[in-house]
Amino acid sequence: MSQMVKAVRIDGFGGPEVMKVVDVAVGEPGPGEVRIRHKACGLNYIDIYQRSGVYPNPLPFQMGMEGSGLVEAVGQGVAHVKVGDRVAYAAQPPGAYCEARVMSAKPLIKIPKAISFEVGAAMMLKGMTAHYLLKRTANIQKGHWILFHAAAGGVGLVALQIAKLLGAKVIGTVGSDDKATLAKKWGADYTINYNRENFTQRVKEITRGRGVDVVFDSVGKDTFQGSLDSLRKYGLMVSYGNASGKVPPFGVEVLKGSLFITRPSLFPYTETREELELTANDMVKLIASKKIVIPVERTYALSDVQQAHRDLEGRKTTGCSVLIP
Ligand SMILES: NC(=O)c1ccc[n+]([C@@H]2O[C@H](COP(=O)([O-])OP(=O)(O)OC[C@H]3O[C@@H](n4cnc5c(N)ncnc54)[C@H](OP(=O)(O)O)[C@@H]3O)[C@@H](O)[C@H]2O)c1
Repeated sequence: MSQMVKAVRIDGFGGPEVMKVVDVAVGEPGPGEVRIRHKACGLNYIDIYQRSGVYPNPLPFQMGMEGSGLVEAVGQGVAHVKVGDRVAYAAQPPGAYCEARVMSAKPLIKIPKAISFEVGAAMMLKGMTAHYLLKRTANIQKGHWILFHAAAGGVGLVALQIAKLLGAKVIGTVGSDDKATLAKKWGADYTINYNRENFTQRVKEITRGRGVDVVFDSVGKDTFQGSLDSLRKYGLMVSYGNASGKVPPFGVEVLKGSLFITRPSLFPYTETREELELTANDMVKLIASKKIVIPVERTYALSDVQQAHRDLEGRKTTGCSVLIP
């Protein structure tokens, strides 16, 4: 038996206006699947790349990569969740911007009552990204100097807190003075407004000419060269996003100073159930014990998805935002 639910679909790539709220049929889960009733859907920068065609998916498709809610029905062979469980996920293929969907049970993690659905729909993609980048990609240790771009954003504010727990010294870049105040509040030792200041020069001043051990760069085109120039000898460049546009092709000689570079993505880091649980369970523990807070600063109705995208790509949001179906 199928039911009709609201979902956000695009039929062509473009601006926020290509997203339409439509009625779609949702049926019963097959083997290995569940039907989830969403309580919150995550808003992520990757949604913008997918909507605009920077990361193209076959059209038409239902948007959204992150969500939380209640398990409503389970298919054959699903053992780790049952009807009524509170769950959250980050998963491909997209489809999370909706009231309910049938999906693979594999990426679902149970969340305790201490974690709200809004937090659940922000901790799985943005939160787990901050976690794997700092703990696994860069293996940040006490005393490391790090430069974190877009520090007042969704991934940024979570990353600042994890970096401080690990004992790093953090320089965060931001696009406005209000964002600088916010980044300081959430753990940045130093902030640089990269719209006004030369961030490479400021990093050199702050680190007394040494440079940082690791740069986390999600801005891409506008910051790539400056990020490499901010590293110490043997430093690590973590290029994990492209909010300002894709990094243009480059030759390996840009890694002068014996630098390292990596282009990580959450999905390989959480591909096996073991890896997913390693990261997700640690996040649940950190949040439930209040060692870190997932800052859900804005909620939008699912029907206001166009405005949510305008605000995110217009650099108007800080912290995490969620859509409420
Ligand atoms: N590889 C992965 O595993 C992975 C996973 C999750 C997210 N990401 C990436 O991480 C980044 C942050 O994601 P998020 O969802 O938390 O978004 P977000 O940081 O909340 O929003 C993006 C921020 O990027 C900054 N920015 C710099 N130049 C920009 C430009 N030209 N246009 C728009 N924004 C610009 C803005 O902050 P300022 O105004 O302070 O500059 C903006 O607020 C994104 O690039 C995303 O793709 C990667």
